Parts: sequence; C-alpha cells; structure tokens
Amino acid sequence: MNPDASTIAAGAPIEVDLSPVAEGQDIKVFWRGKPIYISHRTKKQIDEARAVPVASLPDPQSDEARVKSGHDQWLVVIGICTHLGCIPIAHEGNYDGFFCPCHGSQYDSSGRIRQGPAPANLPVPPYTFVSDTKIQIG
Ligand code: FES
Repeated sequence: MNPDASTIAAGAPIEVDLSPVAEGQDIKVFWRGKPIYISHRTKKQIDEARAVPVASLPDPQSDEARVKSGHDQWLVVIGICTHLGCIPIAHEGNYDGFFCPCHGSQYDSSGRIRQGPAPANLPVPPYTFVSDTKIQIG
C-alpha cells in the first residue's frame, strides 16, 4: 500500500527511482515539505569535489562523507540555502554545483558552501539505497 499525500506530507519515507536521471542531470523531489535535490554527478564533478583540500572549506567535510560509498555519482541534499532559506538553483555558480540568487551563496558539486554568506553546507537528508537505481529518503 502506498502512503497517501497527507501521510507523505507528515513525514513518511519516500522512494525515488533514479533510473531516468541521466548523468549530469538533477531532479528535485519533496520530502517532509522540503525540496531535495538529487544530482547524478559527472566524473568531472566528483573529481572537482574531491580535489579541494577539506581544511580550506568554510564548513569542512569530505565529499566521501556526503555520499554513499559505491554510489559516489549520486548527491542527495536538502535544497534550502543555509543562509536565510532560499532555494538554490542547480548547475549554477562557479563551482559546478548550486547557486543561491538571494544573496549570492555558491555551493560546490558536493553541496558544500564555497562562497557567500551561507554558514554551512547543504544538509544531506537520511536516505538509503534500496537497489542500485532506487533510494528511500527518510
Ligand atoms: S538565502 Fe541563500 S544566500 Fe541568502
């Protein structure tokens, strides 16, 4: 039985089929009323994220700690800017990641804050891979 819309809005886990998301594309889904970005990252985006010295980041966190091992091409983040809560735009900005047009925060291809007033990385929601092409969020 699938949960109805009101149950999902109240916080039920959701399953997302990743198979239609081509490399280099992002999709946005909603979980607990929050926008969730799911990015199918290219090798270039992964390499860029891993080439940065972690200690130099405003909110130091390795890319490896923000993705699931063996599924490194998938980035799943809550799409709410950690400055004042705007929704950043995917595939914009200087870091091949996300750009928040409200006050100019720039996040990289790991969703980590790199420039601008936001104090923290885009949070990673709780999720698991239920198969190679499907995740459950929540
Ligand atoms: S809300 Fe995103 S930069 Fe201010």
